[in-house]
Amino acid sequence: MYTQLQLRDSARPPVNVATLRRMKEQGEKIASITCYDASFAALTDEAGVDVVLVGDSLGMVIQGHDTTVPVTLEHIIYHCKAVAKGLFRPFLMADMPFMTYTSREQALQNSVRLMQEGGAKMVKLEGGASQVEIVEFLANHDIAVCAHLGLKPQSVHKTGGFRVQGREDAAAEAMKRDAKALQDAGADVVLLECIPSHLGAEITRELHVPVIGIGAGPDTDGQILVLYDVLDITPGRKPRFVKNYMAGHDSPFAGIQAYVAAVKSREYPAPEHCF
Ligand code: KIV
Repeated sequence: MYTQLQLRDSARPPVNVATLRRMKEQGEKIASITCYDASFAALTDEAGVDVVLVGDSLGMVIQGHDTTVPVTLEHIIYHCKAVAKGLFRPFLMADMPFMTYTSREQALQNSVRLMQEGGAKMVKLEGGASQVEIVEFLANHDIAVCAHLGLKPQSVHKTGGFRVQGREDAAAEAMKRDAKALQDAGADVVLLECIPSHLGAEITRELHVPVIGIGAGPDTDGQILVLYDVLDITPGRKPRFVKNYMAGHDSPFAGIQAYVAAVKSREYPAPEHCF
């Protein structure tokens, strides 16, 4: 049975955590993108994306909120189900929304829903040292976890805005300690958002698990962007790390393909996308 599933398209076997670890070891960049529906999921798959995230950024780009805080577990499950239908090869990661992982038991129960109902293969949660216990609990239940550090959009009302994190020495040291602690607790992937490039490079070097960055410089093991930013759909001022891949391309598919190629060839991110 297992062989049959894997042979569905043996030229493009599905990505899993072992694939991501191998890519880190071999220096192949991991091309990741967010996605919220089945049609775009099929395009991302065809375009060669490795990791697809059903991010709580959907609160902003789909629902029109100013932050990700209003997003619920039901919202993520709804979109994750749709995305899962459109994917074969990419590894499907789902965000745990605001306040859905405040205790070990709550985190476990909600991760199980994201996996069983949504079809996610990995759950992502925001947080540093305070999440070590939760990550360890999930990992002990064989749940694949991505720990999101740096700019944590769910904490925006506490931290006071969407700003570059880890600029000061003390904050950078704390982030390095947190990343290592989360890895040691069982996180399979670390995601770094909006931090100086040198810090992204140091954390990536120090960890043995793959590190995916968004505004974290060129040296992380992979890159992720919000699909609607790649396709220049998001209105208004864009963060520095965003690049519009519709420029020079005449279809969303060509734009996503160009993004994947730029990540793989290390053309993206260029210095103007970094802090
Ligand atoms: O919610 C999201 O889309 C994310 C990415 C920006 C990494 O967390």
